[in-house]
Amino acid sequence: STIDWDVVGAEIGDNAHFLIKEINEQPRTIARALSGRIDERFSTAHLGGLNMTVREAREIKRVTILGCGTACYAGELGAQLIEDLARVPATAEPASEFRYRNPVVDPNTLYVAVSQSGETIDTLAAVQELQRKGGRVIGIVNVVGSTIARQVDGGIYLHAGPEMSVAATKSFTSTVTAFALLALHLGRIRDLAPEQGRRIIAGLQMLPEQVTEILAQSDAIADIAKEIAQSNSVMFVGRRRGWPVAREGAQKLKEVSYVHAEAYPSAELKHGPLALISPEMPTVAVVPDDDLLDKNTSTLSEIKARKGPVVAMAHRELSTDIADRTLVVPRNEPELDPILMSIPLQLLAYHAAVVLGRDVDKPRNLAKSVTVE
Ligand code: G6P
Repeated sequence: STIDWDVVGAEIGDNAHFLIKEINEQPRTIARALSGRIDERFSTAHLGGLNMTVREAREIKRVTILGCGTACYAGELGAQLIEDLARVPATAEPASEFRYRNPVVDPNTLYVAVSQSGETIDTLAAVQELQRKGGRVIGIVNVVGSTIARQVDGGIYLHAGPEMSVAATKSFTSTVTAFALLALHLGRIRDLAPEQGRRIIAGLQMLPEQVTEILAQSDAIADIAKEIAQSNSVMFVGRRRGWPVAREGAQKLKEVSYVHAEAYPSAELKHGPLALISPEMPTVAVVPDDDLLDKNTSTLSEIKARKGPVVAMAHRELSTDIADRTLVVPRNEPELDPILMSIPLQLLAYHAAVVLGRDVDKPRNLAKSVTVE
């Protein structure tokens, strides 16, 4: 394999936990996901492992992404990237649901199995069911030579190095980065203009440095985590690309701190969960500075009107009548912002787990790879 074990190895070193080590590795692991895959000359991505000719890739009419847990949330962002950049309809679904509903397998659909370990049984079974029916499946996998990596027809390796902590972090951001490359490739053989390709490439190249900037805010996030850790339940909201980020943020908090969290698309709050909002239930909001900013801030005012505490991930400081605390996240291209917005939420979960004295790297009841049904 081409993995450089010394750069992002399996040793804990001076770190208190693998989880914080792996969160802090992300400037390098994202760079490794990009390494050798950017084609500046044609403003596209070069993905040698796809095993697909341009003609074949051009014939794809739809993309269906399958995975479990964090891999599935990364797939939801992948689906949005593919729709945005390639204008090919794309969806993501838990592999465990897909495999049990006698799926209709379509020869013009590209199926993408996402798995850090490459061993998750539901994801593997979905791949086998697809191949049995003649579906074309590629993998986005971290562990080289793993079962899913060997089973698929082609794919993209993350090269993120071993992920030891049960909670997935660096594999999440690397998977979304890999999807950005796939979306760029599928886009550039269709209607994505070269300058749009260049815009995405420039954004991808900025990611490692911007992740470093976010990681430097760890202490400020630890302060917020102290308050979050005192809550019985936390609401996470976001919309469009912020919605999978909110889902993943809630997942991280639940699994490592055992604090209950729910994620809702911001606009769905008024259809039920707003009834839960009170001074006892904080909301963590993903609020990028985009065309939906006004809609997002009006949702937050609804929460504030019910005295719900609000912490926002945003591109600039929000006024205190909208958010009690704002974590300012560096701005990238809108399609790539979710990669950056997810990182403070990883740190929030980590610090909450530490405050509560949890078994950070091995949360109760959970396993790193679920190889039994
Ligand atoms: C387990 C892990 C999760 C992970 C999921 C999928 O439930 O605890 O962190 O997201 O499996 O794992 P995979 O290796 O397929 O990405």
